[in-house]
Amino acid sequence: MEELQRSFRASCLLSVSVVLLLWLNITARPSMAVTQIVPIGVILDLGLNSVLGEMIHNSLAFAIKEYYSVNKQTATKIDLIVWNVSRYDIFTAASAAYDLMENKKVHAILGPQTSEQARYIVKLGEKYQVPVIWFPITGPSLLLPPSPSSIYSNEGLNCFQFRAIADIIKAVGWQSIVPIYEETEYGSHLLPCLSNVLKEMGIQMANVTAIDSSSTDLGINTTLDTLNNMRTHVFLVHMSMDLGKEFIWSAQQKEMMVEGYAWILTQELSSLTDPRVSLTRNLYKGRSTVPVEQFTDFFPLKRYMQGALGVRPMDSKNTDFRRNSEKIFNSRLPLYAWWAYHTIEALAKAVEKVEKAGTDNGLTLRSQILDTSFTAKSGVHFDLTKGQLDQSEYEVYNVIGDRERIIGSWSPETGLVQNHDKEDIETSSEYQLKDPMWPGDTLDKPPKLRIGVRRTNSFPEFVNVYNSTKLHFDGFAINVFSKAVKVLPFSLNNYEFVPLPNQSRSHNTSYDDILCRQMKEEDLDAIIGDITIVASRTKCVDFTLPYLDSSVAMVVRVKNISTSKGILLKPFKWSLWLILGAIFVGATIIINAFEIIRANNSRFNNPFLVYKIDVMENFESTTARWMVIMTSFLFVLVMQVYTAKLTSILTQGTTNEPSFKDENEIKSSNVPVGYKKGSWVRGLLIDQIGLKDEQLKGLGSREEYNEALSNGTVDAIFDETPYLILFLSRYRSRFMMTGTMYQTGGFSFAFPKKSGFTSHFSTAILNVTQEVESYRALMSQSSLPTSIEDVEFEDQNDIETSSLSISNIGGFYPVLISIVVAFLFGLFILNPSVIRWLSNLSQRLCPEFSAQTFKKLNPANPPNGQGQV
Ligand SMILES: *[C@@H]1O[C@H](CO)[C@@H](O)[C@H](O)[C@H]1NC(C)=O
Ligand SMILES: *[C@@H]1O[C@H](CO)[C@@H](O)[C@H](O)[C@H]1NC(C)=O
Ligand SMILES: *[C@@H]1O[C@H](CO)[C@@H](O)[C@H](O)[C@H]1NC(C)=O
Ligand SMILES: *[C@@H]1O[C@H](CO)[C@@H](O)[C@H](O)[C@H]1NC(C)=O
Ligand SMILES: *[C@@H]1O[C@H](CO)[C@@H](O)[C@H](O)[C@H]1NC(C)=O
Ligand SMILES: *[C@@H]1O[C@H](CO)[C@@H](O)[C@H](O)[C@H]1NC(C)=O
Ligand SMILES: *[C@@H]1O[C@H](CO)[C@@H](O)[C@H](O)[C@H]1NC(C)=O
Repeated sequence: MEELQRSFRASCLLSVSVVLLLWLNITARPSMAVTQIVPIGVILDLGLNSVLGEMIHNSLAFAIKEYYSVNKQTATKIDLIVWNVSRYDIFTAASAAYDLMENKKVHAILGPQTSEQARYIVKLGEKYQVPVIWFPITGPSLLLPPSPSSIYSNEGLNCFQFRAIADIIKAVGWQSIVPIYEETEYGSHLLPCLSNVLKEMGIQMANVTAIDSSSTDLGINTTLDTLNNMRTHVFLVHMSMDLGKEFIWSAQQKEMMVEGYAWILTQELSSLTDPRVSLTRNLYKGRSTVPVEQFTDFFPLKRYMQGALGVRPMDSKNTDFRRNSEKIFNSRLPLYAWWAYHTIEALAKAVEKVEKAGTDNGLTLRSQILDTSFTAKSGVHFDLTKGQLDQSEYEVYNVIGDRERIIGSWSPETGLVQNHDKEDIETSSEYQLKDPMWPGDTLDKPPKLRIGVRRTNSFPEFVNVYNSTKLHFDGFAINVFSKAVKVLPFSLNNYEFVPLPNQSRSHNTSYDDILCRQMKEEDLDAIIGDITIVASRTKCVDFTLPYLDSSVAMVVRVKNISTSKGILLKPFKWSLWLILGAIFVGATIIINAFEIIRANNSRFNNPFLVYKIDVMENFESTTARWMVIMTSFLFVLVMQVYTAKLTSILTQGTTNEPSFKDENEIKSSNVPVGYKKGSWVRGLLIDQIGLKDEQLKGLGSREEYNEALSNGTVDAIFDETPYLILFLSRYRSRFMMTGTMYQTGGFSFAFPKKSGFTSHFSTAILNVTQEVESYRALMSQSSLPTSIEDVEFEDQNDIETSSLSISNIGGFYPVLISIVVAFLFGLFILNPSVIRWLSNLSQRLCPEFSAQTFKKLNPANPPNGQGQV
């Protein structure tokens, strides 16, 4: 009985379960029956060394599970048929695509990852009318990979990240960078895009390095060694994740992630350093969670990339939807993962629409996919209407420790801006970044610039290098440089001064040698100092605009006032003295003649003219009176001029006379000439002015200038005006500047040929020199007189203490002779008795002749002296 009951119960249970099963079967059947499985081909590299392939595959699988668990009532269901093909293998990829289209009759193909493969598969898809969505780094695309020629046009979306990077390079102020790229189609996009933009900015790409995508450790090590030997240690790394992580790991091993180096990462590598993201290495197999231990964590790599800068597509959205989904992966998913995820969503919708419309055709499906534009719950705006995603906004990050800091953002419209909050964009200036932290935890921007400074200088006002426990650099040139650095369009905080020449060389090195040889030998980024722009030097270096004008001029002795004879005669030239004398004598004779003519008519009063105004009434003749007035007037005039001229001579005014007037006089008199030792001026003296080699003598300092000029070792010194002004400010009273001014290029700073700094510094120097007040302050800070007029004369007293002596007037004997002559002349003119005596004398000696002569000379006055009194 019990057995029966038991069997009944069992059969009941069985039948109930059968009925239940049947019912279930019946209810389930209608949906099962209509759901059409749509085969979709997937071609990805799922090898161990392809992070991106696995990531995309995981996203696709995850998206299908999610999509169909939410959308239960679909008429279609996507079924992925996955081909695992190495990303370097174009042939297998093409044949996989062929197999999927021809045999598996797939409706669409997702993948591949590389443009080399995509080029064939997209073409094949066109032939079979199967839409192909492949996964370049810029996001899912239905388009053919850009041909090299279209990349050169610099318009493609592919170029945006490189334009962002170029703007970063400009903002940071690097003048040259070393691009390192993977030798694939993906990698070689870098060059055409970047070189165009950098060329416009005047930034050089030095030692462009390509790495074979299948490089071994050894290959990478060799490349790194070469890179390490380069001058520029600013590297731009553009690689796939897979090569990139090997490369970065090796660079870390070689200690190239330390102070002095700078690294910029492009979009794909930026995923490796994204602290918000962990990348899984295990295929997602539909489990509810991926076990934590199965993650391949790239966290150590982030630590290796300390101080690196990078760009990645702007993606700071963190919606609830993402957070829920990310629980499954125990981490945030990178943007690429979301793009792949939404590709499934777009594809599933398109497939569904095509199925409902009943037009099962590849072209319709393609146009349905191209119709996709939605903002997903993840916050990603997914728009395929242009055939590919339109991602053009980037954020700039700086790796700091295990974290990173967003230091700026970039978009084609705004360029680089410091803040990526949209409201702040207007207020923040373009090409600005927050100060990055560089490798080695420092704020000093790499590379450290080496600025050469000549060690010895006879004029320390310009450059002064001195050692008091540590080396000090000082002087006008250094001050101008420091000031210019502050007005550069980028910050330049990391430079050191290198004294030239270094200890092993003799100290007297000319700038020619320093510019042409030591610039290269010492690997300098600039040389600053009192460097004159000279044509011959432009072969070796580039000059900035001058910060100080200069000309070549000549300094000679002032003619010694105490030895110059006859100062009383000096005001007038000899010719003028003679003319004045002639006028005087002539006037006397003429007036006398008129008086005598009159006297013949009336009575003879006074035959000789005396220059006294009250004498006037003695003149009877009107013409004689007029003559007297005129002559007196001329006399007063001449006296005035004479007095003024003599005063100016005695007070050492403008009539200072150089011992040599100009270089022609020097040349013709062949006297010894001094120049500054090691100066380029020597060349000018020989080639331009035509002085002889043996005439020239090198002098070291302004004290030597003084000594040589004073003791007659040289008779003139040629040098540039800034030095001469300094020299004269100390020794002005005895020397003076004279001769032609030979204009030179002025003082400036030198940079290696083609250095990008030259133009920046030229602009900065203009700014410094045009700020007149502070420029003058800078000059006086370095005790430089701004011009010869500003010179404060240190030996002014020398002039005032010297007083006139008899020798000034012309020496003892000349004075004595003058006095005797004047006395005799006065007697002769004033005293008729002297004349009478003279005529008597001559009458006695030579009566005939004398009588005639005196008769002629003075017919009214007979030679015997018996006048009609
Ligand atoms: C994909 O192929 C590579 C070799 O080509 C193999 O190492 C890897 O395990 C494969 N991945 C999967 C998921 O089958
Ligand atoms: C880098 O390039 C410069 C000139 O462009 C060259 O002189 C130098 O040898 C190169 N350095 C290396 C390590 O290739
Ligand atoms: C590459 O260099 C690193 C660091 O110097 C070293 O540890 C590694 O063994 C080298 N690899 C090869 C293949 O030489
Ligand atoms: C500066 O002088 C000190 C001795 O006074 C010497 O030890 C040191 O090496 C010098 N420094 C330089 C950079 O020349
Ligand atoms: C000086 O320069 C020479 C050649 O440029 C170099 O070999 C030497 O090491 C330098 N010496 C110092 C002390 O820097
Ligand atoms: C100029 O005169 C002074 C004395 O007044 C004398 O000491 C000096 O040597 C003279 N200079 C020359 C060049 O004759
Ligand atoms: C120099 O630069 C500063 C800041 O860049 C600017 O404010 C100033 O106007 C400039 N001066 C001249 C004379 O251009």
